[in-house]
Amino acid sequence: MAIIQPVRGTSDLLPEEKARQNQVISCAAQTARHFGYADMATPIFEFTEVFSRPLGASSDVVAKETYCFADRGGAGLTLRPEGTAPVMRAVIAGGLTQSLPLRWFYAGPMFRYERPQKGRMRQFHQIGCELIGSASPLADAEIIACGAQILTELNVLSDTKLHLNSLGDPQSRAAYREALVGYLEQYRADLSDDSQRRLETNPLRILDSKSAEDKHILEDAPHLSDYLTAAARAHFEGVTAALDAAGISWHYDPLLVRGLDYYSHTAFEFITSSLGAQGTVLGGGRYDGLSETLGGPPLPAVGFAGGVERLALLTPPAPLPPPQIALIAADEAGEAEAFALACQLRTHAFSTVMILTGNMNKKMKSANKLGCPLVIIIGTDEISRKAVIVRDMDAGTQEELQTASLTGWLDQRFILAEKS
Ligand code: HAM
Repeated sequence: MAIIQPVRGTSDLLPEEKARQNQVISCAAQTARHFGYADMATPIFEFTEVFSRPLGASSDVVAKETYCFADRGGAGLTLRPEGTAPVMRAVIAGGLTQSLPLRWFYAGPMFRYERPQKGRMRQFHQIGCELIGSASPLADAEIIACGAQILTELNVLSDTKLHLNSLGDPQSRAAYREALVGYLEQYRADLSDDSQRRLETNPLRILDSKSAEDKHILEDAPHLSDYLTAAARAHFEGVTAALDAAGISWHYDPLLVRGLDYYSHTAFEFITSSLGAQGTVLGGGRYDGLSETLGGPPLPAVGFAGGVERLALLTPPAPLPPPQIALIAADEAGEAEAFALACQLRTHAFSTVMILTGNMNKKMKSANKLGCPLVIIIGTDEISRKAVIVRDMDAGTQEELQTASLTGWLDQRFILAEKS
């Protein structure tokens, strides 16, 4: 029978990779907590409108990348491609708009039907922070600082560059959109097919085009910064002043527009050159209009999400500590006794693994391979003497101990090991 492979763009997280991802997630959660962000989670699927309304029907994510399906009751559902819209849906549905601001952290799988390549998966994982209910530029700066701190804790900040732009308020964007379309119309025939389509649906996204011809045409395009209203300009200056005060270096990138349609004012990405084409490890921005697209009240908000796979690629593997004790039954008569002792040791908080198969020689080899510092052996002789044999794998020594005194002896042994 043919072997069933994982679905294209998905992968099994075997222990080493899972440990690396856990390290990224726990470091991010801990840093977020340090900034006052509480851990929360939303379901991995939502009614399709949760994404189609705020992300924009013309955004690539909604137009081409969502996993949509009808459930058995006929409801139109979508596997979440991102976490921000669900978080806002949770705030509105939970009636939490009276308890603002909210600072929330989340981590979990996201799903996008993209062309898989290094650092780009169809099921991937994000860590994210959302600060909901503040219009202050300090909120944008706080979110960026929190992202930078996570990257610092993971030792990858120096590998990245912070790209920052202002997309302005809706008024700024409407004026700029008109100017940009007016400019690009002259070169319509030379633009890539994608950009010709976007000229009608979402012209700002053309700024993000990877096509060489489009990039050449964009060199003389008008700049969004020249179309910002006074209020939008003041907001951006507030953000950059706060970043400068905190010593967070940033790089102005007028072409940074982000792939989701809900952004206004601040947009940012931490980009590395170490991962090839998929170099954005963490990105976000302000999304003041999103709540209203979901039927909520006006609710200023800002946030980011980081790609766990991409961050894990940049971090060294996390060595997994072996269990403290390997238990071996020397013969059949020792098996039940060894099993019971393993259970007892675990309740005493010693991590313990029982070696299940092989003859004595093979069992010792397995214990050695696991890297446990101690091996405890029980057989018929030991049972008759109410004793066990304890072998210190590092020292290569062994001794017989009375079972009754074992946990006290182990306490001492591991306390001493911790001290040395
Ligand atoms: P995003 O830029 O679409 O933003 O995704 C955030 C991060 O998720 C990216 O920078 C990247 O590291 C990772 N990522 C995205 N797609 C993939 C993929 N196919 N495979 C692997 N990693 C991927 C958002 O999702 C927004 N919700 C961020 C946000 C939060 N904005 C405001 N609050």
